[in-house]
Amino acid sequence: IRCQSTGTNEPKTRRNLLDNASNLLTNLLSGGSLGSMPVAEGAVSDLFGRPLFFSLYDWFIEHGSVYKLAFGPKAFVVVSDPIIARHILRENAFSYDKGVLAEILEPIMGKGLIPADLDTWKQRRRVIAPGFHALYLEAMVNMFADCSERTIMKFEKLLEGEDSRGGNSIELDLEAEFSSLALDIIGLGVFNYDFGSVTKESPVIKAVYGTLFEAEHRSTFYIPYWKIPLARWIVPRQRKFQNDLKIINDCLDGLIRNAKETRQETDVEKLQSRDYSNLKDASLLRFLVDMRGADVDDRQLRDDLMTMLIAGHETTAAVLTWAVFLLAQNPSKVKKAQAEVDSVLGQKKPTFESLKKLEYIRLIVAESLRLYPQPPLLIRRTIKPDVLPGGYRGDKDGYPVPAGTDIFLSIYNLHRSPYFWDRPHEFEPERFLKPRKDVGIEGWSGFDPSRSPGALYPNEIVSDYAFLGFGGGPRKCVGDQFAVMESTVGLAMLLQKFDIELKGSPESVELVTGATIHTKNGLWCKLRERSAVH
Ligand code: HEM
Repeated sequence: IRCQSTGTNEPKTRRNLLDNASNLLTNLLSGGSLGSMPVAEGAVSDLFGRPLFFSLYDWFIEHGSVYKLAFGPKAFVVVSDPIIARHILRENAFSYDKGVLAEILEPIMGKGLIPADLDTWKQRRRVIAPGFHALYLEAMVNMFADCSERTIMKFEKLLEGEDSRGGNSIELDLEAEFSSLALDIIGLGVFNYDFGSVTKESPVIKAVYGTLFEAEHRSTFYIPYWKIPLARWIVPRQRKFQNDLKIINDCLDGLIRNAKETRQETDVEKLQSRDYSNLKDASLLRFLVDMRGADVDDRQLRDDLMTMLIAGHETTAAVLTWAVFLLAQNPSKVKKAQAEVDSVLGQKKPTFESLKKLEYIRLIVAESLRLYPQPPLLIRRTIKPDVLPGGYRGDKDGYPVPAGTDIFLSIYNLHRSPYFWDRPHEFEPERFLKPRKDVGIEGWSGFDPSRSPGALYPNEIVSDYAFLGFGGGPRKCVGDQFAVMESTVGLAMLLQKFDIELKGSPESVELVTGATIHTKNGLWCKLRERSAVH
């Protein structure tokens, strides 16, 4: 992706006015409490018409790994460096909260892990994280394969229909298909509810999409209009949102009631050694309800479920979407991936054991997440004064930041940083196999797979915070293994059966962003049955 300036056909006077307003604000704010930090002289017009993270990348190359950006009445510090990321996410994690993000998500997720205050977060993380134990994940892999099979069968049926009309390919928006697949999987994995969205529509599914849409909209809109008194009753879009929330909440309440009525109280160790292969309901909700000492009120449980539904749905769908987008432009990598699938799986479905051998597919998932991180920005706010380390190319003395400073940790910049990655914009899953040790960057210990032997993906430990596909430190994604396994199963089963081609040119696939990076008009692809074993 090349970052280009936008707005060439915009009337010049309007653009100049916007630029001047932006510069004025920038200058007003630049002498403030953030001292010597470089200031991005960005134009407000740069923030519209293309995803924000493109502009943040241009300014990163221009101003370095820490800079201040003023837009609207607000100033943000933009960070694009693994040394500082490590400081914020791990070394000094409890000096930060989720700031703007928590304000946006609180009406939807309540006190779920993402927006929760520190006390609630500590208590709930301790309860939820053990739920993702090995036997649960093993049961989940079988469910991922069953759900992916439903998607594959749907495609095969469509192809059969096309075949009877003399055609040999079908055209599909794979982004929409992955979204349905990921919704079905998260519903079953988290609360044993089969949305069945691959094959049908329902009011609950529509409500989930409506809620996601509003969450996305809020995360790109910097004025919290939903807090205006009576807005939820008067503004039609807010009324719809409240209705959608009610539909999902009623559904979740019913599932929680049912799980509590059939509760079998036991302790964590026993839960973790249950015979998951024969359990009718292996979901996380079952674990959370049955766990002894986890007497939790229904509202908190609902918040937890809602958080995982939203956190685990679009993210995974986006990883699959961009993996296909990248593969479709790299036929030799597709061949390599299909050869691995054929030798590991043949015509069988993936299992927990065979996943370990699908190394190249897992690297493709990681590389897609490097190029298209979901979300592209992590958001933090200082709750006490801190000093950000200078980072690479930064100020050696570091940058003092007062309490209340809003920070965008740009994972997109970090993952495409020319200082830490070779040919950063290229799709090269093999890059994760080679160590990069003596890179001569003070404070960064390089990329070394041996630091985390047997890791499912090249995590933050291996990369010393240069790869943060699932974040790092105490607030790291709780569903990372679940997500990598899910994406690997889905991708492997797709490549096992089909050859995929983009319908238009790669350039015609426009990006838009909210919480995740998605396409503007879908990822339209042509699918054919695989002709021969490669
Ligand atoms: C947090 C990415 C799938 C649940 C996070 C964070 C990232 C992330 C980067 C850290 C956010 C931050 O530090 O501000 C992803 C990606 C996924 C994925 C890329 C898919 C490919 C999932 C799934 C679940 C999940 C499947 C649940 C089943 C969560 C939760 C948090 C989180 C609950 C908040 C953790 C906390 O604050 O303690 N995710 N995630 N995610 N993720 Fe995921």
